Amino acid sequence: MEKYVIKGGVPLVGEVEIGGAKNAALAILAAAIMSDETVYIDNMPDEADTNAMLQAISSTGAFVDRTGRHSVKINASQIHDYTIENDYIKKIRASYYLLGALLGKYKKAGVVLPGGCNIGLRPIDQHIKGFTALGASVNIEHGIIDARADKLVGSHIYLDVVSVGATINIMMAAAMAEGKTIIENAAKEPHVVDFANFLNSMGANIKGAGTDVIRIKGVEKFHGTEYTIIPDQIEAGTFMLAAAATKGDITVKNVIPKHLESISAKLIEMGCQIQESDDAVRVVATRRLQNTHVKTLPYPGYPTDMQPQITVALGLASGISIVTESIFENRFKYVDELTRMGASIKVEGSTAIIEGVDKYTGAVVSAPDLRAGAALVIAALTAEGYSTIEDIKYIERGYEDLDVKLRELGAHIEKVDSDRDIQKFKLKNA
Ligand code: EPZ
Repeated sequence: MEKYVIKGGVPLVGEVEIGGAKNAALAILAAAIMSDETVYIDNMPDEADTNAMLQAISSTGAFVDRTGRHSVKINASQIHDYTIENDYIKKIRASYYLLGALLGKYKKAGVVLPGGCNIGLRPIDQHIKGFTALGASVNIEHGIIDARADKLVGSHIYLDVVSVGATINIMMAAAMAEGKTIIENAAKEPHVVDFANFLNSMGANIKGAGTDVIRIKGVEKFHGTEYTIIPDQIEAGTFMLAAAATKGDITVKNVIPKHLESISAKLIEMGCQIQESDDAVRVVATRRLQNTHVKTLPYPGYPTDMQPQITVALGLASGISIVTESIFENRFKYVDELTRMGASIKVEGSTAIIEGVDKYTGAVVSAPDLRAGAALVIAALTAEGYSTIEDIKYIERGYEDLDVKLRELGAHIEKVDSDRDIQKFKLKNA
């Protein structure tokens, strides 16, 4: 089982290129099968989740040609299978996007119930509410969600919770329905906007993405397109928090600074200097971080996917900080692991009360989910001594070459798969 081994205590300094947004890519790849013409996608991250999605798309009979590490050509004119239940697709939450794509195009779909991080219940009732409102009948049998309709007709849908997945999935199903659909209380994340732009590039008629009311006029067919995915707001934020926690100086490049505003604002409150340019943000942290309070919210609020990372940084700040997780009900599981590194954090329900400590000390910890895993890597990079991060498969679902990029910023980190390699690393970095 591969692990990361890290020797902490080195401020991270330098520039890092940010890749394509995982949570935009997963939706865009799924929607690419809605056209019968060739779709070219670029700036796709090379991660376990996107690769699993490509395998699932291929299993439907669609033609998938990986033209490069970050580019793919998809032609779905020969799809012959509308039920997807292979093992790898069970691992990713975004498998449900294939439901919206197949239902929207073929009016029938079957997809295995989604997997994903264990950060909460993660129901899909709002997705089903939207599909049903459009005229589909949806049943869950033997672990498969089956959705079918004689035809889909536009509807006025009010989401009970702000849901990225449901907003995207309903947009997909409505894009080829008859008539108009309005989605109220829609999610406004950058990847929701990127997804709507992608559908429109194939001939969809979607307006209002990025606001809480999205209007869709159904169209008959989609044509082919060439599309470049936006940069990953959360990968960029993760490196920004790594700069803050290690008292470093990192410039994240190939980003959209506006997407990072809530993160930059918190870093300024914590005493970091932020310099923005057109497509880069520089974070400099020269002294001990100051405490602050954070509440995760739907975009443009502070992102839930950046909650573990800022908690790690605040664990080293002066004073008491409070982090409230308002999106998922079980997203502080990593605190037990962080405590093994010396953190002083008390979790009460959806709130973490953080008493800053002078330092973390290296330990063997396990990544409970994707973003918490990345946060534990940040903690290990600041810690005195050596750390081993286990279960890095979760981390590699959503970060491409994390160890490589961190080494280029001066980190002592290696991916190993034996205790012997860990000993060799320790000798090399003694
Ligand atoms: C997407 O998950 C992301 N995943 C998550 O990122 C991200 O944390 C989340 O959006 C919020 O931004 C992908 O895009 C693949 P939601 P999603 O539907 O769509 C509740 C990562 O680290 N809800 O916006 O599943 C839900 O339980 C991952 O990259 C319902 O109640 O999230 C949650 O409390 C982790 N019913 C809240 O809404 C539903 O039908 C927000 O969930 C759907 C959601």
